[in-house]
Amino acid sequence: LMALGLLFATSMAILISIKIERSHQVSFRKARITSISTVSPQYRKWVMKHFNPDKDLALDKFHAWPGQRIKYALKAKRIKRPYQNITQQFYRLLPKSSPLLGKHFKSCAVVGNSGILLGSRCGPQIDSADFVFRCNLPAIEGFEKDVGTKSNFTTMNPSVLPHDYEGYATNRSVQERLLKRFRAVGNQILHIPALVSVHGRPQADFAVGMIRKNHLPIKITIQPSETTDKIDALWEDSEFKPKRASTGSILFALAACVCDQIHMYGFYPFAEDDKGRKIMYHYYGSGRKMRASHNMSEEQRMYQKLHQRKALVLHTEPCR
Ligand code: CDP
Repeated sequence: LMALGLLFATSMAILISIKIERSHQVSFRKARITSISTVSPQYRKWVMKHFNPDKDLALDKFHAWPGQRIKYALKAKRIKRPYQNITQQFYRLLPKSSPLLGKHFKSCAVVGNSGILLGSRCGPQIDSADFVFRCNLPAIEGFEKDVGTKSNFTTMNPSVLPHDYEGYATNRSVQERLLKRFRAVGNQILHIPALVSVHGRPQADFAVGMIRKNHLPIKITIQPSETTDKIDALWEDSEFKPKRASTGSILFALAACVCDQIHMYGFYPFAEDDKGRKIMYHYYGSGRKMRASHNMSEEQRMYQKLHQRKALVLHTEPCR
């Protein structure tokens, strides 16, 4: 009889915990953020075991030298060993140390590119953060109400040029549009993962060339080639399996190291919202598709879990 009682109690406990888990999932997107979530030392410790922003964020003069051959992070078709030679010119571009060295911020907004931002009116809330991260040189002009304008750290995969600035190499009006976008970065950080794929080299060179030729005050950082592997190792050392590190997951890791509070906006990789409204993959442009190399729904599950555990605040509802 006791054994039966124990079995009954255990099954009830399992049922209740499943119910709680489900109700969390349902209520999550409805929940209004009432309490302030702070990155706990436990999460920061886990991230920093694999990713040290002081040396893994930006290649610097201390860790690179002229004549050095740096292997690209990814293998390339038809090229046996893709390397980048650190020329004197490339070396001069590097900062002495990461521009975020020793920096710490109370509140940060990490802005992803999902179409969930359209109509959100989250612009003022995003701009109220102490430090704002954005991904892949996104469009801002025309979307200010929903995405804000403040940008302290903007990433730019080299592939942004052919995708969002088609004809950039020859077309004058496209070049002017790109230059205008670079001017909007001001004297803040533009982070280029230029050592991930050798195929992005001409695009990265073009972007850096345009910034230098026009004497723009942008602080360029080049992501070391080992960084993607480090972020992948971070997720391997967790319950989440998001495949290859996306821009968003790299920025989450960085924010976990340098921010007390992380607010994430524009992280929603699904085609519909909970009211059945169609959601574009990007809030701007003609709707670039999700990359097969990432597992965005797993990333979303991970951000939801971290939200529930109060390691970050995931905003997917309109702001007021
Ligand atoms: O460089 P990548 O292709 O990863 O990024 P992107 O498409 O420019 O978007 C920047 C980041 O926003 C992604 O890495 C995702 O983390 C996030 N994102 C999302 O969660 N949902 C979307 N619909 C689009 C992007």
